[in-house]
Order: sequence, then C-alpha cells, then structure tokens
Amino acid sequence: MNEPLNFAGFREMAVFSGNAHRAFAEAVCKHLEMPLGRNEVFEFSNGNIFVRFLDNIRERDVFLIQPIAPPVNTRLMELFIMIDAAKRASAGRVTAVIPYFAYGRSDKKDQPRVPITARLVANFIEVAGADRVLTMDLHAGQIQGFFNIPLDELHAQPHIAEYFRSLNLPRPVIVATDVGGAKGARDVAERLGAELAIVDKRRTSNDEQAEAMTIIGEVEDRDAIIVDDEILTGGTVASALELLRMNRARSVYVGTIHPLFAGAAFDRLDTTDISELVFTDTVPVAADAFQHVQTHVLSVAPYFGDAMHRIHTGGSVGELFR
Ligand code: R5P
Repeated sequence: MNEPLNFAGFREMAVFSGNAHRAFAEAVCKHLEMPLGRNEVFEFSNGNIFVRFLDNIRERDVFLIQPIAPPVNTRLMELFIMIDAAKRASAGRVTAVIPYFAYGRSDKKDQPRVPITARLVANFIEVAGADRVLTMDLHAGQIQGFFNIPLDELHAQPHIAEYFRSLNLPRPVIVATDVGGAKGARDVAERLGAELAIVDKRRTSNDEQAEAMTIIGEVEDRDAIIVDDEILTGGTVASALELLRMNRARSVYVGTIHPLFAGAAFDRLDTTDISELVFTDTVPVAADAFQHVQTHVLSVAPYFGDAMHRIHTGGSVGELFR
C-alpha cells in the first residue's frame, strides 16, 4: 500500500547527504527519528563525480543536505549532480539543504569586471532542478533574491544569544566586526539586553587581509562578545581582539556561525587569550582543531530537522526563530 501524501501531495520525507558533512546529516536524521537515506557519492579517477540513490525516492519529499564547505567546488558539483539524480529518479520535490552557502561574499559588483558568483551558484542550483532551498545565515540576506524558488533562511543568533546568556557574564557588550555584521550582532545584543559596539574594518585589496581601524561604542572593563557570521583566516577576529585589548575590554569571547577556519586561522586564534570560541556545526571542524583556546560547539542540526519537518508538513519556519 502507498504511504499517505503530505499536504503538498508528496509522499514521506527522504533525507540524503553528500560528502560535505555526513555527521551533520546523521544528527538531523537522529532528531527526526528517521534513517539517513542510502546513496553513493564518489569521484572516479578522472575526477568525474558519480551519484546514485540506493533507496526508492519516487514521489518522495527529498531533502539533500550539503553545506558548501571546502573543497567548495567539489561540494557544489556533488550537490548539482545529487539534485539532478533525484529529479531523474522522480522525486516529488527536492529541497537543497545548504547549512553554509559559499560564495556569499561575491554578492555584488564592487570592483570593475568582477562576477556575482553567489548569483551564478543560485542559478546552477535552480537549473539542476531544486524546488526549494533551506539555508542558514547567508552572508547578506539579499542573496535570497538570487533564487527564483522558495528559500528559507534560518538564523543562528537566537542560539548564540541563549548560550552566552547561560554564561551570566557580568558586563557583556556585543561587538560587530564590521558595519555589515551589525544587524546580526544587534540581534544577539537585543536578545541579551546588552549594548552593541561596532568595529570599523577595512579591506584594501583581495588578499584576505582585514584591518580593524577603530571601535565605536563602550568596551572598557566589559566582557566583549565578538559576533561574526563566519571565520575564515581569523584575521578579522584577531584584529578586533587587538583593538578590544587596546580599549581595555576585560575579557573577549567569540561567537561565530560558520567556522570555516582556513589557512592560518588555527595558529592565529589558538595563540590568543580569547576566553571562549563558540561556533555552530554548519561545516565540519575537527574535534581537536584547537589546543589552547576553549571551544564550544552549538549544534544547529536539531533546528534544521525541525525546519525540514515544518517544510514537509506545511508548518511555519519563521516561528522557529522568533
Ligand atoms: C566579512 O564580511 C565577514 O563577516 C567575516 O568577518 C569574514 O568573512 C571573516 O574572514 P576572516 O576570518 O578571513 O577575516
């Protein structure tokens, strides 16, 4: 006998993972109390990627979990090919679940003769056949508009705020690492009832060097919590940290959503006196990545599981981050 159809006419949920972050997909499925679907995603010796679903997904409500973590271009190709394979296997609906959306910093033509790669990636995802996208904290909210299919953007700020509230820091001040990050940092500040300070950051070239110029707001003798959407080289946080020390902050904590930690980030951050480095699990980070700095991982897998269940059943996703 066939399974009942959901509100939108699809059969039950089926969740699959690419190779980017299988542990995250397993955690989502554990929360949903369902098995992770069986599939193969591998590369032939000529570099061509092959995908096969080992479970029947005909008319199913299929969710493909794949953060675009390094190596980003391989992970993107895996995602495109998984979407294509799912459509050709007659999936009822395909939702690309992308906890971290790469190329988000390439969202505008801010130099002559440069691409808008975030838009290009959005186009590829649609052309591959995705019906919807579920993601978390895009580098800029406007990237939503690069998609012509429904997109749900989850936000980690409530979880970051809840964690720092649990630390009961006596004099917290939330610090945005640049003006662009002020909106997300303000959200955390409001949830904590704390003040906001903003670093005036400058990037003068494409060499991934960030320079913190000055800080706007009161940080002296405060417990500063740097809030940033992602850490890549760690340069932004390191220069904000220096500025906070110069301005006599009492302690410095860091809360970030996407822990990309590329290049020298480990050495750079592990040698600082950051009181605690807090990040989510939207991309994989080795458990022993840091030797000296205390870390705390906030898993957002249950949150993604709840959002996927709501998408499947026609519930509100927005209610999850009120
Ligand atoms: C920039 O606009 C972002 O919000 C982050 O501050 C930036 O991506 C961090 O990069 P990095 O760790 O390389 O300084």
